This record gives sequence, structure tokens and C-alpha cells, in this order.
Amino acid sequence: MPKQKVYVTRARVPTAIELLQTLFDVEVWSENTPPPKDVLIEKASISDAIMTEVDDLIDEEILESGKGKLKIIANRAVGYNNIDVEAATARNVTITNTPGILAEACADMTFALILSIARKVTFGDRAIRNGKWTVFDQSPYLGTDVYGKKLGIIGLGDIGEKVIKRSIGFEMDVFYHSRTAKAEIEEKYRITRLGFEDILSTCDYISLHVPLSPETEKMISSRELALMREDSFLINMSRGPTVDLDDLHAALESGQIAGAAIDVTDPEPVPMDHPIVHNENIVITPHIGSASKATFTAMGVAAAKNIVAALQDKQIPSPVN
Ligand code: NAP
Ligand code: GLV
Repeated sequence: MPKQKVYVTRARVPTAIELLQTLFDVEVWSENTPPPKDVLIEKASISDAIMTEVDDLIDEEILESGKGKLKIIANRAVGYNNIDVEAATARNVTITNTPGILAEACADMTFALILSIARKVTFGDRAIRNGKWTVFDQSPYLGTDVYGKKLGIIGLGDIGEKVIKRSIGFEMDVFYHSRTAKAEIEEKYRITRLGFEDILSTCDYISLHVPLSPETEKMISSRELALMREDSFLINMSRGPTVDLDDLHAALESGQIAGAAIDVTDPEPVPMDHPIVHNENIVITPHIGSASKATFTAMGVAAAKNIVAALQDKQIPSPVN
């Protein structure tokens, strides 16, 4: 019997690819950019499984091409807004993600962003590299305390909870906003649920951890930025489109907020001619929230294991539909 076919859209996680190769006929897209849509349409029609990255856009047309043959698309990510899940469900294609293994890494990175923007870490580093540190004078580098401040988490799930754990060491007061109350977490960490607008106007650091959805797209635009305090900071560890980049730039320029630190932008990569890239009160990282070496590999292996289970008719570890 011919082996089942698996298409992998990037050669990024060798351990995961090797695992798949022990069982299946595996083809890997060798370029570092996403396969073009016509390639995905063709591969969907001949593959039993596809392993994707967050910047592979899987729409209805691609899923229709896989109808009847394609059993699973395993996203190497916890977020899956790049895939039309409804269209997949209608065609009996299982979509999987990689929950439970990247939250600690993302929470570490969230604190890296908070500390970088608050204590001018990248600003100071840039100053040195640009030859501006010519006299011992801390005045241009005075930052804001993180210790003892108010942290507001918007979207309290797996990552948000791990951020709370870290905030304990900084003795922060934590507030959160999610659509549903999280009674257990409230009790465990003594945190307080607030309405969306109240959290914006109350906290020193506002950290976004929501999935991208029609509800969360541009959830932070000029109206919301205007509700934030002038000494507050916005952190985005979710998806780029949750924040309107032009509005954020305007808020930074006008001093409406003190600063921002964002791991995600819309679009990605951030265009180098966008003026926000040249603002001194923002830290921008290239969507690397989960990107520790260990977590990067673990996510690939988790995606591969979802494929193995689906193609062997076993219980799939992390389906989202
Ligand atoms: P999660 O466990 O599903 O948590 C997300 C939380 O957001 C849920 O508890 C949900 O609570 C809340 N939420 C959903 N819609 C909301 C809304 N409209 N308003 C307020 N809260 C809302 O997901 P996670 O693992 O923490 O990951 C969160 C997101 O982070 C992912 O979806 C992904 O987009 C992003 N991410 C980014 C990186 C990176 O590298 N930057 C890495 C990993 C993940 P309710 O249902 O109660 O509202
Ligand atoms: C990364 O962005 C993820 O969603 O895992």
C-alpha cells in the first residue's frame, strides 16, 4: 500500500520532519517564504495532511481542493486565525494547534518586552551602538518602574495566566479583562476582573493576549488609546491586527501613551518605511513570543504528532474543530 502523503510548508523543525518521514511520504517546501496559493491548492488535492506555519493562509479554495482526501491541517502555533476553520469543518478537515507548550516562553517574552520598554533597554543599547554614550549621565535613560505597578491583561488564557505568575515577583497589582470570568484564577492569584474600558484607564501596563477574531481585530485603535493614561504602556503579544498600527504611531507621537512594546504587527514583517519603526518609545520584535529553541522544536513535534494521530485514526491531541 502506498504511504500516506504529508506536505510540510517549511523546513524549519527537522525533528518534526524526521518523525513524519518514519511513517509517511513527506514533501517539504524548501523556501523560507510561504508556498504560493496555487502550490497549496495542488498539494491539498494530493496530500492526506499538511503542516503549516502562522503565515500560511489556508482559505476555502485550498480546503475545497483537498475535499475528500485531506484529513488534517496541523498548524505549528497555538493561534489558528490563518485558517478558515469553518470551511475546514464543512469538508471534514481537522485543524489542530499546539496549546500547552508555549505559554511559559511567551510569558517570558512578555516580560522581556515590558522590561525593555519600561527601563529603556533597547533605547540604551541603540545609544551605545550609535556612539551616543560619551559621558556617564543616566538622565537620558530614566525609565519607569515595573515593580509595584498595575498590570492589565486583556485575554486571560494560557499565556495570560503565566504572565500573572511572573508578575508576582514584581509585586504588581493585576487586573484582567476576558469575556468570561475566571473565578479560579482570580482566587488563586488575587486578581480583579475589570471592564474593557476600565482596564485601559486604570493600568500602567496593558498586555494583549487575545486570539485574533472579528471581535478583537483593531480592538486597540485611537478611541481605546485615548482612554489609556499618558504614563502607561501597551504590550502586544497577540496578533498584529488587534492593534491599529497607524493609530498607535499617532498615540506615541502625541504622547497620548508613554510607550509600546509589540511582538506582532500588521502587516508582518513591519514595513521599514512605516514611521513607527523610527519612534524611540516603542520596542518591536519579529513575532518571536514562543521562539525559544526548546519551544520552537516542541511545537513542531506537537504538530507532527497531531498528524500521526489523525492519519492513524487515533485520538488527536489538540483539535480545534
Ligand atoms: P487562550 O488560552 O485561548 O487564551 C485566550 C483568552 O482570550 C481566552 O481565555 C479568552 O477568554 C480571551 N478572549 C477571547 N476573545 C476575547 C475578547 N473578544 N475579549 C477579551 N478576551 C477574549 O490562548 P493563549 O494560548 O493564551 O494565546 C493567546 C493568543 O496569543 C493566541 O491566539 C495567539 O494569537 C497569540 N500568540 C502569539 C504568540 C507570539 O509569538 N507573539 C505566540 C503564541 C500565541 P474568554 O473566552 O473568557 O474571553
Ligand atoms: C504563534 O504566534 C502562535 O500562535 O503560536
